[in-house]
Amino acid sequence: MAACSLSYYSAPLFLSPCRCCYDHPCCEAVASTTASVSTAPWVPHDSVRHLLLSSPLRCSSSALASAAPASPVLRVRSSSLQVKAKEEEVVKVEMSSSGSKVVCVTGASGYIASWIVKFLLNRGYTVKATVRDTNDPRKVEHLVKLDGAKERLQLFKANLLEEGSFDSVVQGCDGVFHTASPFYHDVKDPQAELLDPAVKGTINVLQSCAKSLSVKRVVLTSSMAAVANSGRPRTPEVVVDETWFSDQDYCRELKLWYALSKTLAEDAAWKFAKENNIDMVTVNPAMVIGPLLQPVLNTSAAVILNVVNGAQSFPNSTLRWVNVKDVADAHIQAYEIASASGRYCLVESTAHFSEIVKILRDLYPTLPLPEKCADDKPYAPTYHVSKEKAKSLGIEFTPLKVSLKETVESLKEKKFINF
Ligand SMILES: NC(=O)c1ccc[n+]([C@@H]2O[C@H](COP(=O)([O-])OP(=O)(O)OC[C@H]3O[C@@H](n4cnc5c(N)ncnc54)[C@H](OP(=O)(O)O)[C@@H]3O)[C@@H](O)[C@H]2O)c1
Repeated sequence: MAACSLSYYSAPLFLSPCRCCYDHPCCEAVASTTASVSTAPWVPHDSVRHLLLSSPLRCSSSALASAAPASPVLRVRSSSLQVKAKEEEVVKVEMSSSGSKVVCVTGASGYIASWIVKFLLNRGYTVKATVRDTNDPRKVEHLVKLDGAKERLQLFKANLLEEGSFDSVVQGCDGVFHTASPFYHDVKDPQAELLDPAVKGTINVLQSCAKSLSVKRVVLTSSMAAVANSGRPRTPEVVVDETWFSDQDYCRELKLWYALSKTLAEDAAWKFAKENNIDMVTVNPAMVIGPLLQPVLNTSAAVILNVVNGAQSFPNSTLRWVNVKDVADAHIQAYEIASASGRYCLVESTAHFSEIVKILRDLYPTLPLPEKCADDKPYAPTYHVSKEKAKSLGIEFTPLKVSLKETVESLKEKKFINF
């Protein structure tokens, strides 16, 4: 335990990793010792990483950031690490133990983000994952069980509505995947529940990125909700593409609060990125389905659960659909491919709920499924969404039938349905 004193972060000790302090709550002290960390050649330190995973609440995020490795020769603004050095000093941080880059995923416990974290770990990245409650096993257990998590996943507590919450987390990261944003429809106070976390939260994260000298690219999880809600007709001849932008007034008028939150957030993000010279790419997924990694039910998987769980009728609605693994893959491609830019619509197909029911009946002939539509109006028409840009990321979309089967099987496995 003596080796756990602050001095073990000094350069000579740092060169010989200490394995004796796994249970020592010393992370809080790390921030004040960053001067020695920052000038030392970085050597993998299993103790530090173990502490990050095992005692997240004892670790201040600035402490974690300073202890965390970064990509080769990152430029880190010394002041933000509270290093007792000149403001302009450029500190070199060596590679992570895996020799790979360090990236941040916000809202990491969420449905899409969990898959992004999984794929990033599979590809050898070191991942700094933010969650609101690092103490809640339903939010973190599935993440720490992922392959590679023990070695390369670090958990941080951060909230979109707390200014500066992400400052130290993004420090030293090469890329930031900003996925955190509330996604649900049953809201009482749209401003407080959806609009503020989406818009102020996005700017909060981008502000942290702007302060960091290490962040090279931000991939923002936007939505087709920020693309296709403009009031322009959507009929079988129409092809929606990345040039479409949802209209704020239209969303307000129809009380499409979630769509409004994504539209305002993406709009604000583009303005901020332009003004602050941030290289940002947005990924705009359709309704995301496919297997769940997290134990809690998310909004888009609930859409399918509602259909297979004894509903009497199906909605008269045509939605856009895409598989969660394709969405996660697209995020990483949008970060890795240097020439990626602008927005990427991710839609495998559009389908009316009558079509969804038809496919599900084909897959599960004995399952009681709704026979009738919720109203007698003509079915909402289908339309097309261009796949051209998504293809440039190398995305080959999973067919809707496969995605539906994966969703139902996952809902069964997680005991949301029983048949
Ligand atoms: N699923 C879809 O069909 C779909 C389609 C297009 C775009 N998107 C976008 O994809 C992203 C992820 O959505 P998802 O489907 O994966 O939903 P999800 O499972 O509900 O994940 C949302 C995440 O946002 C986090 N979050 C919410 N409010 C926060 C706050 N104030 N501070 C910090 N974190 C906060 C949540 O954290 P907690 O775990 O702490 O609650 C959660 O991790 C969102 O930006 C969403 O708009 C989703």
